Amino acid sequence: MSATSFDLVLIGGTGDLAWRKLLPALFQAWRHGKLPADGRILAVGRNEMDSAGYREWLQQRFRDLPGPARPGAEAFKRFAALLHYISMDLMQAEPYQRLRRWLKEPQADEGRERAAGTVVLYLATSPHLFPQICGQLCAVGLNGPEVRVVLEKPLGHDLESARAINRAVGAVFSESQALRIDHYLGKSAVQNLTALRFGNALFEPLWRRESIASIEITLAESLGVGTRGEFYERTGALRDMVQNHALQLLTMIAMEPPSTADADAIRNEKLKVLQALKPFTPESARRDVVRGQYRAGVCEGRAVPGYAEEVKVPAHSRCETFVALRTEVCNWRWAGVPFYLRTGKRLAAGTAYIVVNFRAVPHPIFPGPHPANRLVIKLQPEDGLELHLLAAKGHSGAGALAPVSLDLDFDKAFVEDRVGAYERLLLEAIHGRLNLFVRSDEQEEAWRWVEPVLRAWREDDAAGLGPRPYAAGSWGPAAASALVARDGFSWAEES
Ligand code: BG6
Repeated sequence: MSATSFDLVLIGGTGDLAWRKLLPALFQAWRHGKLPADGRILAVGRNEMDSAGYREWLQQRFRDLPGPARPGAEAFKRFAALLHYISMDLMQAEPYQRLRRWLKEPQADEGRERAAGTVVLYLATSPHLFPQICGQLCAVGLNGPEVRVVLEKPLGHDLESARAINRAVGAVFSESQALRIDHYLGKSAVQNLTALRFGNALFEPLWRRESIASIEITLAESLGVGTRGEFYERTGALRDMVQNHALQLLTMIAMEPPSTADADAIRNEKLKVLQALKPFTPESARRDVVRGQYRAGVCEGRAVPGYAEEVKVPAHSRCETFVALRTEVCNWRWAGVPFYLRTGKRLAAGTAYIVVNFRAVPHPIFPGPHPANRLVIKLQPEDGLELHLLAAKGHSGAGALAPVSLDLDFDKAFVEDRVGAYERLLLEAIHGRLNLFVRSDEQEEAWRWVEPVLRAWREDDAAGLGPRPYAAGSWGPAAASALVARDGFSWAEES
């Protein structure tokens, strides 16, 4: 189904997410000619202003965007014709009647009939407001089949709170109307991961325990928490990055081939992976999970403060800014293969990749030792693939092998078609395609899996055992290296 007409309502239209991510992404979609022509974008916020005032406000905000994302004056003016604004107190009932009228009635200045189209309600507000907002939307009938609701993370802080949100949303919208965002699923490299596995015959026969020794997922940031100390203090790296982004990547790596490309065929397979993850016990949560917190250090050539010195972070914080863990997918395909996940702030580099470490040849005939084959799926900053192989070196025939790599750079190969994560996800939401959104059962299963770790850490905190310190600009606590070394592996940057 493709939409020809749409109304996209950004609830939280003056918030950071709206002006930093969503509206720049909508601008790009418009610039690329991908937005259905007959569309309107309605920002909803508390501030009293009219649509003209909002357009001016947004143009000011856009000046803070990095160069390539910043629209020129003429382009902004044409894009801004799609933008409208109404001010609403989300806690009151009456404004929702106004919203309904706005959506149902063509705008006076449009002077033409619009086909009734899709309505996408993007809840870019704090998730604790979701139940209240959904209830009010239902009360004014804004939950019909043409309506989709997009939910931004964090969706809960544990299984119970995630379920409460899902119940409240589910009382008003069907599962196929509720689109849970995990922006990692919108990244081009993640699309390529599915293409690599299921669009090519080459790798799938090797994609199993017989050929693969271990898998590493690294999501490293060189940035600190910046001004988000208050949010981060309540969240931490496990909830912020592992429960959602890292686990979603793991499911895409480990899932069985779905029988079709339908959203539910894919999401059923992803769910099975989450259900097959080895559950943590109090012992394994301490043995197989390393948590760390950055101290002052030098990051990208600049002296930076430690986490506990950041704005709105208490001096004795026990919040983790780094997690490394080892898990397994307990099924026939993956039994015994370690999956290592690692994420952190203020690490040595801002980079994200997945490394598939293949097994060594069963019977070496060349003098060695040699590194085993490796496939590196680069997620960012580059989007590409590196296949590390061995080749005969020079004229020395059977004597010497040298490492060589096949290097695919998708940014160069598809220069014209680069699409940002939010741009892709917003377009998918407008067109009602659910493949890239997380189903409630996936999300709850991911919470179920991380909960024993959260419990073990709460107990450790009470016993005075906090996260391990690491210097900003390093690759995290030494214990993270020890975690993989125990199995005879090393993280990519160490090998
Ligand atoms: C968000 C987290 O979900 O992802 C942030 O809340 C994190 O803390 C961000 O910085 C990382 O996303 P990306 O796309 O920059 O890797």
